[in-house]
Amino acid sequence: MKGIVLAGGSGTRLHPLTRAVSKQLLPVYDKPMIYYPLSVLMLGGIRDILIVSNPEHLSLFQALLGDGSKLGLSLEYAEQQEANGIAEALIIGADHIDGDAVALVLGDNIFHGPGFSRLLHQHTQNIDGCVLFGYAVRDPERYGVGEVDTDGKLLSIEEKPAHPRSDLAITGLYLYDNDAVDIAKNLRPSARGELEITDVNRVYLERGDARLVNLGRGFAWLDTGTHDSLLQAGQYVQVLEQRQGVRIACLEEIAFRMGFIDADACYALGAQLNKTGYGQYLMDVAARGTR
Ligand code: G1P
Repeated sequence: MKGIVLAGGSGTRLHPLTRAVSKQLLPVYDKPMIYYPLSVLMLGGIRDILIVSNPEHLSLFQALLGDGSKLGLSLEYAEQQEANGIAEALIIGADHIDGDAVALVLGDNIFHGPGFSRLLHQHTQNIDGCVLFGYAVRDPERYGVGEVDTDGKLLSIEEKPAHPRSDLAITGLYLYDNDAVDIAKNLRPSARGELEITDVNRVYLERGDARLVNLGRGFAWLDTGTHDSLLQAGQYVQVLEQRQGVRIACLEEIAFRMGFIDADACYALGAQLNKTGYGQYLMDVAARGTR
C-alpha cells in the first residue's frame, strides 16, 4: 500500500500565523504538525509516501524530511497548484499509487490512541473498497459526517451538513483500493469549486464498498483548525509526554520500532540532536531496544 500526506491549503483560518509558513509545519508541542499524520502511515507499515503541498511550501517539507532514507522510508514530493480539494491528491498521486491501494491522510490531522497500530494493520491488509474512520464530536457540522446503522454499516455521508444526521465526523484518514484514482478523476467540482473527498467516499458507499470504523471513546482525534484547538493539541501531547516519559509521533522511534531502521541508526539520529531532550530520548530508546 502507498501513502499520501496532503499538506496543502492556504491556512487562512489561522492567519496571520500561516501567512508565511505552511500550517502543517506549525509546532504541535515539540514537533512539526506533519510528523503526526506521517506517524499514522508509518504505524500502518507504509513506507512509500508522497507528500503533496503548495508550490511555495513544498521545498520546506523537503528540507525537513528529505528523501526519507534516514527513517527507512521512500519520500517523494508533488505540487498541488491550487486549492482544488482533497480528492485531487489522488489524481496528483496517480503515478505514485501506480495500481496499488492507498492510504491518504490529511497533514493537519492528529490521531492518538491505544492499539492504533494494530487497528491500522488490520485495515490496510487486502483492502477492498474503502475504509473510513469515524469519531464522535460535539460539532459535527464542521466535518464530513457519516450516518451508520445499529450494526455500524455506513448509510450516508455528507460534507459539512447544516443539520448533521449523527455526531460521527469522518476523520482525515482514508484507505482506498486502486479504484479511488479513477473515481477521483471522474469527479466534478462541488459548489465550493473543490474535488471533494466526501464525493469519492460516496461513490464507494453507493457501491456498498465503504466501511466506517468508529475510533470510539478514549481515542484522541485532535483538530488543529483554530488557534484554540491547535494550542489544545499541543497541550494534549505535552501532558502525555511529560507524564509518561514517552513521545507521541516521534518518527525516528517509530521507524526503529517498526524495523525500518536498526538501533544503531536510531542512536545516530539521536546523537545528531544531542543538545535536545528529543535527541536524548532517541538515544535512550535505541539503547534500551538493544538491551
Ligand atoms: C476535510 C474534509 C472533511 C473531513 C475533515 C477532517 O475538511 O472535507 O470531510 O471531516 O477534512 O479533518 P476541511 O479540513 O477541508 O474543512
